[in-house]
Amino acid sequence: MLKEMICLEETQSTNLYCRQNFNTLQDGAVVYTTNQTNGIGRFKKQWVNAAGAALYFSTVIKHKIACPSALPLAVCLAIEDALERMYGISGQIKWPNDILLSARKLAGVLCEAVEGGFIIGAGINLSQKEDFFEKNKLPYATSMFIETGEKPRDVRALAMAISESIAAVLACLEKNGFAPLRGEYRVRCINLLNTVRCNDVQGIAKDIDLDGRLVVKTQSGEIVTITEDVSVEVIYGEF
Ligand code: BTN
Repeated sequence: MLKEMICLEETQSTNLYCRQNFNTLQDGAVVYTTNQTNGIGRFKKQWVNAAGAALYFSTVIKHKIACPSALPLAVCLAIEDALERMYGISGQIKWPNDILLSARKLAGVLCEAVEGGFIIGAGINLSQKEDFFEKNKLPYATSMFIETGEKPRDVRALAMAISESIAAVLACLEKNGFAPLRGEYRVRCINLLNTVRCNDVQGIAKDIDLDGRLVVKTQSGEIVTITEDVSVEVIYGEF
């Protein structure tokens, strides 16, 4: 069946649009725009709009999924897969859900649980130049243009590729949980073996567990697991 793909010239937030229209959207429907006037990031932070220069993507999941705690991590892998298939680039991940190129943030993922399913959102920086990030005080952000010299033009094709890759990781989660995706996530994850700080906890990130949590060994030798609803700082910089 053909996937429902809704392209909006402008919207407040593609995640909000999906929430408001959840009942009428199909399972797997994709909503995207390049102009999002009130985008929301994790911890309800504003997600800065780069009109015409970024892809703002959301998709609607209208069923239960296996291992929901690992959903944002699996979605990061899906986006990495789509970027690799579309542009041949291979990025890294800052746990749990930041996609990096050259240690700068290219994309962010926001998964929201709603009654009857989930809304998966992603913002991907495409053709911003350095001055955009300087002006918006985002020194750790980057775009495809900055990293590759190319401005991706076909946002619909990218949205479609991301949607296909998300369908593939969801099928994998459904069948076998996070286990088969975990190895790839570990390889891409920049936190592992680095010092991280989260609230009062500081230590070395040792692993990602089967629920997608970050396993940290503190300075006193205690092992703690951190869930994705808290902010983790990598000591060499904040994103
Ligand atoms: C983060 O904080 O890193 C996650 C950012 C997620 C932003 C995307 S843009 C498309 C979708 N709509 C929103 O309002 N937020 C997400």
